[in-house]
Amino acid sequence: MRPNVNQRLAIARCVICVGPGGVGKTSTSAAVAIEAARRGRRTLVLTIDPAKRLANALGLPEIGNEERLIDPSAFTRQGLAPPTAPLSAMMLDIKRTWDEVVTRHHPDPERRQRLLENPLYVAMSTALAGSQEYMAMEKLHELSSRTHDPLDLIVLDTPPANHAVDFLEAPNKIIDALDNDATRWLLEPYHQKKKLTKKLFDAGSSFFIRTISRFTGTELLTDLGELLAGFQGMFDGFRARAEAVRKLLAADTTDFWVLSTPLQADEAQDFWARLSERDLLVAAVVLNRATPDPYDGAGPADPAALLAAIQRAGGSPELAQRVVAVTQQMATQAAAERARAEVLRGAVAGTPVILVPQRPEDVHDLVGLEALRQGLFG
Ligand SMILES: Nc1ncnc2c1ncn2[C@@H]1O[C@H](COP(=O)(O)OP(=O)(O)OP(=O)(O)O)[C@@H](O)[C@H]1O
Ligand SMILES: [Mg+2]
Repeated sequence: MRPNVNQRLAIARCVICVGPGGVGKTSTSAAVAIEAARRGRRTLVLTIDPAKRLANALGLPEIGNEERLIDPSAFTRQGLAPPTAPLSAMMLDIKRTWDEVVTRHHPDPERRQRLLENPLYVAMSTALAGSQEYMAMEKLHELSSRTHDPLDLIVLDTPPANHAVDFLEAPNKIIDALDNDATRWLLEPYHQKKKLTKKLFDAGSSFFIRTISRFTGTELLTDLGELLAGFQGMFDGFRARAEAVRKLLAADTTDFWVLSTPLQADEAQDFWARLSERDLLVAAVVLNRATPDPYDGAGPADPAALLAAIQRAGGSPELAQRVVAVTQQMATQAAAERARAEVLRGAVAGTPVILVPQRPEDVHDLVGLEALRQGLFG
């Protein structure tokens, strides 16, 4: 038997929530962190772009990279059980993480400063595709290797992805982009202590560079050359940390949670397959925002009883018919989703598949997170 999510949560050192856009990665990350901290594990949740209200509920400022301890009284004030170990939250600020990485790891103080001030650096650090994923990993590396205030568990939220591998491959893509052949070509004049502009106007200059310089101006290209030169000396560090993170992701105490919805169960299966084929441990597949079964719990168990109950309560026959029709539709949808989850269960080799019901409201506060947590852990 594969361990269930409760057993895994007692031993995992790192939980990574992955999945397509808008399926509940950020909310689930927070709910998982709360559960772990209630069990006495020192936990940090690193969120990416949380909705403003959720960030507020977690006590996070608008922009960040600041670790904030969540006050246990925020839970007790809502009548919720507080964490029994320190629980903190942090919002990934990509630009600041780039700055921290450059500041901490750049070997040359003067070139480091020029890099930080390069106009293209600012654009690159925030706009480059994959930058978010890469910086999430840099942050994960930093947090997991820190010696002061060590953490038992880091829960990592991730940006929306079309494929599970997007997240895993982004760091290497970025490093390669900064360190590829074209980059080296641009950098040659720096190594030869010539001016880049001279190189650009050399008869032998590439058609590509001549073409783009017509549109972008040589000043921009000079900035680009300087930007790439600025990164020289950092690549070994980039690669070493990327390798350390690769090992961390493959560790048997690192759990991936695949988030999706019942309607996107195929995508969930694809994420599961791509992670599993890399020998990464998927601890759970969550189909969030499932249609709640309207007949579950206290309500009347069959349509005829519901019809009678509505009329007894003073509803007109028309109203009763309409309510029963909608309720039946929901019940049918819920049954179809349970059946889909069952098929998925058969396909994911014993990985727990958890259906979490859609709530009437967004998950934007501790009470909403508590409902989500219950859906995940029972
Ligand atoms: N079970 C649920 N019931 C109701 N609303 C939910 C549920 N789970 C998540 N939500 C809401 O759905 C929206 C998306 O959730 P969330 O931000 O956690 O998803 P995400 O996967 O992180 O999204 P993104 O890919 O944009 O980062 C939010 O408004 C959240 O409050
Ligand atoms: Mg999110």
